[in-house]
Amino acid sequence: MSQPDQLIIFDTTLRDGEQSPGASMTKDEKVRIGKALEKLQVDVIEAGFPIASHGDFEGVSAVAKAVKDSIVCGLARALDKDIDRAGEALKKANSGRIHTFIATSPIHMQHKLRMNPDQVVEQAVHAVKRARNYTDNVEFSAEDAGRSEIDFLCRIFEAVINAGATTLNVPDTVGYAMPHQFGDLIHRMRERIPNSDKAIFSVHCHNDLGLAVANSLSAVSNGARQVECTINGLGERAGNASLEEIVMAVRTRPDLFSCQTRLDTTQIVTCSKLVSNITGFPVQPNKAIVGANAFAHESGIHQDGVLKSRETYEIMRAEDVGWSQNRMVLGKHSGRNAFRTRLEDLGISFESEEELNAAFSRFKDLADKKHEIFDEDLQALVTDTKTESFNERVKLIALKVCSETGEIPHAEVILSVDSEEEPGVASGGGPVDAAFKAIESIVNSGAELQLYSVNNITSGTDAQGEVTVRLEKGGRIANGQGADTDIVIASAKAYISAVNKILESALKAHPQTGDV
Ligand code: KIV
Ligand code: ZN
Repeated sequence: MSQPDQLIIFDTTLRDGEQSPGASMTKDEKVRIGKALEKLQVDVIEAGFPIASHGDFEGVSAVAKAVKDSIVCGLARALDKDIDRAGEALKKANSGRIHTFIATSPIHMQHKLRMNPDQVVEQAVHAVKRARNYTDNVEFSAEDAGRSEIDFLCRIFEAVINAGATTLNVPDTVGYAMPHQFGDLIHRMRERIPNSDKAIFSVHCHNDLGLAVANSLSAVSNGARQVECTINGLGERAGNASLEEIVMAVRTRPDLFSCQTRLDTTQIVTCSKLVSNITGFPVQPNKAIVGANAFAHESGIHQDGVLKSRETYEIMRAEDVGWSQNRMVLGKHSGRNAFRTRLEDLGISFESEEELNAAFSRFKDLADKKHEIFDEDLQALVTDTKTESFNERVKLIALKVCSETGEIPHAEVILSVDSEEEPGVASGGGPVDAAFKAIESIVNSGAELQLYSVNNITSGTDAQGEVTVRLEKGGRIANGQGADTDIVIASAKAYISAVNKILESALKAHPQTGDV
């Protein structure tokens, strides 16, 4: 029997995923997700669009420096300044890729680019050659390929292969394709392009009609050997193809696919939770693979079947994608070494002893309130510690909230702002509202609350609550996280974390629509 081909998994959570309105990530958050993706063993991590803003450039450079076992990629339009910026951002990468793109559909060429097809081919070829000055790993994307003419796609792909492109990406940018037709497009291009064997065919599908995964898999059946996807299907509008669904589909049906990925699928749930927590985009309970109900067998008939033989109703094993029963891992008497070792097992490391000490002291506080500490608690605790980094301008010192039947809730808060302690008081519709108003009375951020969400990290009434707050000000969006066994304190921490990010953040350009 012949060995299956490798299906390259190109994760774009940090780039296309971040383009979902509200899903912005800081440099440190990108590094955390980048490290988790490396542990998942994805082949390529697209870390951002370096020309978009200083923050994006820094994010790509930081991921390039931190990640060693995956290729790190930066996006660039087919313009010299974009390519040079991407090349610069990837300088520290062990293995870097430049991904350059230009639109190829009649509608985009005419209305967006205002260029004729000859000019588009010329610019694409020039861009690929320029990118080759920085790396020999160059990907070219024909934006809106899903609505482009096959003759033109064949022409431009043949030209960019000759110019040095090693991956040809076929994006269904607006989610317009149908599975059989998209698969057929890949098949015909591979047959018609004379040098098609010199490059890997890749697909990048959006989910506007709910077909991103189906279209990607149809392309794989027709010879595509790279799929661009995101954790939890995050991405522009309705999102991108979901990584976990693609990977588990080819793994579960080896009888239908002649390729396999090299991913460690047991890391999928950890990555999903991390991305959801950092972006504030919850995972719907019935979401395939990573939804809370994905492996729950509620009905009596199913339970009976699963107990007799799990294959009766289960096509995958929950543990293969990283769903583990809440397992107590540490407790009040666990020492610093046990703490550090468990975090290392979870793929979490600290940049300094100071950061480790801060996390350990939080762990001790938590263990006083909560007897059993699970992996999920440790993840949240680390988010919390890293969120409250040492150089943040606003810090929570103390919070007191009164909430009583028949009385208006009231909050008193003390914050440290640029190392000065400042008190604030306010009343509100509920204790969380009062706390947020008391914080605002000090920081006067003027930001608008766009999202407030609370999740319990584990079960039980002593579980920690994990809160995400999204704030918007003048087009800038920031997500803040906080975790605590007290929901109001977790909420205040999340609000302060978002305020700190608003104070730091800058506007950034969109690769496909924004001017840079
Ligand atoms: O959807 C798209 O076309 C893109 C390209 C930049 C690859 O994201
Ligand atoms: Zn896209």
